[in-house]
Amino acid sequence: MVQPHTSREVTSHRLGIVGLGVISAAYLDTLAGTESVVITAVADLDAARARSVAAGLPAARALTVAELLASDEVDTVLNLTTPAAHTEIALGALAQGKQVYGEKPLAVTLAEGRSILAATHAGLRVGSAPDTVLGTGIQTARAAIDDGLIGRPVAASAVMVSPGHEFWHPNPDFYYREGGGPLFDMGPYYITALIHLLGPIRSVTGASSRPHENRVIRTGPRAGESIPVFVDTHVTGVLEHDSGALSTITMSFDSTATVASPIEVHGTDGTLAVGDPNTFDGPTSLRRVNDGGFHTLDPLAGYVDGARGIGLLDQIRTPPRAVARANGELALHVLDVMESLQRAATEGRRIDTTTTAERPAPVPLTPRAEWLGAIDSHGRTIRH
Ligand SMILES: NC(=O)c1ccc[n+]([C@@H]2O[C@H](COP(=O)([O-])OP(=O)(O)OC[C@H]3O[C@@H](n4cnc5c(N)ncnc54)[C@H](O)[C@@H]3O)[C@@H](O)[C@H]2O)c1
Repeated sequence: MVQPHTSREVTSHRLGIVGLGVISAAYLDTLAGTESVVITAVADLDAARARSVAAGLPAARALTVAELLASDEVDTVLNLTTPAAHTEIALGALAQGKQVYGEKPLAVTLAEGRSILAATHAGLRVGSAPDTVLGTGIQTARAAIDDGLIGRPVAASAVMVSPGHEFWHPNPDFYYREGGGPLFDMGPYYITALIHLLGPIRSVTGASSRPHENRVIRTGPRAGESIPVFVDTHVTGVLEHDSGALSTITMSFDSTATVASPIEVHGTDGTLAVGDPNTFDGPTSLRRVNDGGFHTLDPLAGYVDGARGIGLLDQIRTPPRAVARANGELALHVLDVMESLQRAATEGRRIDTTTTAERPAPVPLTPRAEWLGAIDSHGRTIRH
């Protein structure tokens, strides 16, 4: 799959990117600057957008989606389309023998998510954002828990409130359709983080509401346009982890702001205040039972100065029989938790999840030069 590239055995994994909207710029910032990957193809429903992105990338051609999926110059398809297209693109890539790494959520329904994993033949990987949880923020919190700094973890809270993405995104329609809403859009960051911190989730209960049937776009060329809301926009729940720990979760597009810590984890001996899981760097603070206050921990673990794309680089570098950290099974479990929580809220009952996932391997403290560095023909990072 990987191509020998220079005499010092540097190899570049060949990427084809599908979906060149807002978030693609963040991926290009990371990936266009590393020798580990070479972007050989880009595609979007908007062909002019694909041509304009390809013009800025020395090795990339603008292709149609079908051409990109079939290209023998692509090892992994990076799927940055909107959620409703995630399954179609992932299945198309797998059918052509390509690896896949995609934006969250894995799919808009658990059934679709299962179909993606079912189509994954031996040797092919499916990975999914979020990869923010591999940064020093969540990884330091995890190391603190695993090192026993808060004793036995018993509970956590996760709080994300915002007035809605229509305030900053020029085309926010998809955030208010199936696969969107605060739960499916922002939930992956918080629920993935909770699984890294406290392990898989066995059951959920919840309640949710939808105060507005329409929302008004606040920015860009469509500012002032009203768009319909098809999903609940304030979702609360209780997640019961296999360990017995209980996480309470609030995901809202109907609130202005909060001073709550994005995540807190409470243990028998102390509490951790954990930074925003939609960022890479924390901070993580610890207060033990007899301490007078919280103190910020130095980074203990994680990819330093992380950026979108590290989950993909982690996947590419994971040896054949090992499990990549931002893997499809984890993303499927997160999807199960989200779908079950929304169903529990709608139906007014407790629901057991039907999937599970291992806590991914912890990330040792890894300097940026190392995770961004070139890889050799065995997938090992070359230290410059
Ligand atoms: N915008 C952000 O800040 C952000 C942050 C993190 C994650 N994400 C996730 O990234 C994904 C994309 O978000 P975005 O904000 O970039 O959306 P966007 O609407 O700005 O861009 C999506 C792009 O995908 C293209 N597209 C849609 N369906 C396609 C298909 N079937 N084939 C080819 N191209 C297709 C669209 O033409 C568009 O250019 C979503 O899953 C979102 O949850 C976005």
